[in-house]
Amino acid sequence: MKPVRVLIIGAGSRGTAYSQYIQKHPEDAVVVGVADPDEFKRNRIAEMFGIPDEHVWDDWTGPAAGGKLADAAIIATPDSMHVEPAIALAGQGYHLLLEKPVATNEADCRRVIQAVQDRGDIHFAICHVLRYTKFTQTLKSILDSGRIGQIVNVQHLEPVGYWHQAHAFVRGNWRNEAESSFMLLAKSCHDIDWIGHVIGKPCRRVSSFGSLFHFTKANQPEGAADRCVDCGVEADCPYSATKIYMGMLEKGQTGWPLDVLAGEVNAETITEAIRIGPYGRCAYACDNDVVDHQVVNMEYDGGATASFTMTAFNMAGSRKTRIHGTRGEIYGDGEKIIVTDFLTDQTETIDTSAADGTMAGGHGGGDDGIMLAFLGAVSGDTPEAIVTGPQESLETHLAVFAAERARLNGSVETISL
Ligand SMILES: NC(=O)c1ccc[n+]([C@@H]2O[C@H](COP(=O)([O-])OP(=O)(O)OC[C@H]3O[C@@H](n4cnc5c(N)ncnc54)[C@H](O)[C@@H]3O)[C@@H](O)[C@H]2O)c1
Repeated sequence: MKPVRVLIIGAGSRGTAYSQYIQKHPEDAVVVGVADPDEFKRNRIAEMFGIPDEHVWDDWTGPAAGGKLADAAIIATPDSMHVEPAIALAGQGYHLLLEKPVATNEADCRRVIQAVQDRGDIHFAICHVLRYTKFTQTLKSILDSGRIGQIVNVQHLEPVGYWHQAHAFVRGNWRNEAESSFMLLAKSCHDIDWIGHVIGKPCRRVSSFGSLFHFTKANQPEGAADRCVDCGVEADCPYSATKIYMGMLEKGQTGWPLDVLAGEVNAETITEAIRIGPYGRCAYACDNDVVDHQVVNMEYDGGATASFTMTAFNMAGSRKTRIHGTRGEIYGDGEKIIVTDFLTDQTETIDTSAADGTMAGGHGGGDDGIMLAFLGAVSGDTPEAIVTGPQESLETHLAVFAAERARLNGSVETISL
């Protein structure tokens, strides 16, 4: 089955990124249909692949209404709009690459996974891209070799970054739980999933604390205005939209996150977006309610423990992890893996970055990695390549929902599958 025929459902940032991968690998896949209410975005992908008008739709229900047109569908709609297209397209026998989260609540998550499992004959991968990086694959093979013995404890930090938090979780699409989802699900479901993958056992109990500490009206500096362009104290604000976005433009950036502000990225469009658009709002005067810091403590089958910290207040950077085993320990930063052996007291550093020292594509190579795995599974070349299938994705999503319940209720939550 090559090239794999793919539908893109949701032609935003992620749908476009996956389409660009396909464009670079025409021998592996081709996009044969696209659905998105935004004319500019759906046409951008339609033009990339010369898709005829009858296979360009303004809503996911378009392709779901007809007969099966392709082998696979990539669902990259907003968080709250994953469930219905996933269930409908799974029912029609499309292999599915579904953006995370599966759904924004536990019951819907179970419905999607059930629909996939009932169908039984489709490949299904959740875009937990961190599992597909060279860093993670190397780390996992070291752990599976038993080199540091049994894993007893993991500490994992997700440094979201001050400007990324302001962009996506204060001003942007993931700022408000009712409109998208809570922070741990929107951002850190990757990390809770990744820790589970590293430990290799299901999570049984969780506790959690966290809050919206800083980005509130009460913390708006004296003299500030509700838009950065009108603000008298803008020059002293690290979260100034002008400082963040014009600074990126000055450094020659044109892609994400600037392309979220405007379809065409240039000084004029970004200036205008800051002047009138949502991304020019004061970071202390938005309708945001998601947390800007959260910790989660987890206990796994067999007794291993993990602690996770997500915080906005740092320079955005790669995740940092310490893994403590019975015979050794590991420190990893998304590129380097430093292994210490308790028998010899020797330390080895393994560099998993690309040979030229660059990160290999989006999410440390995870975006390319998941496409390779998914298309390989669908085409039959590498049927076992998907490591984010329905059951493991359900389990790690349940841990995320339980952690959020624990944060809200001040409880220790038990996870039952
Ligand atoms: N795996 C990752 O690392 C990662 C990273 C970022 C985002 N995401 C997830 O990917 C998904 C998409 O995020 P994004 O950043 O591309 O957002 P986006 O807003 O850029 O794209 C979503 C697209 O869906 C379209 N859409 C809305 N309603 C639709 C409908 N009825 N039918 C078809 N399309 C519709 C929107 O017009 C938009 O173009 C989200 O669930 C997000 O959480 C995953």
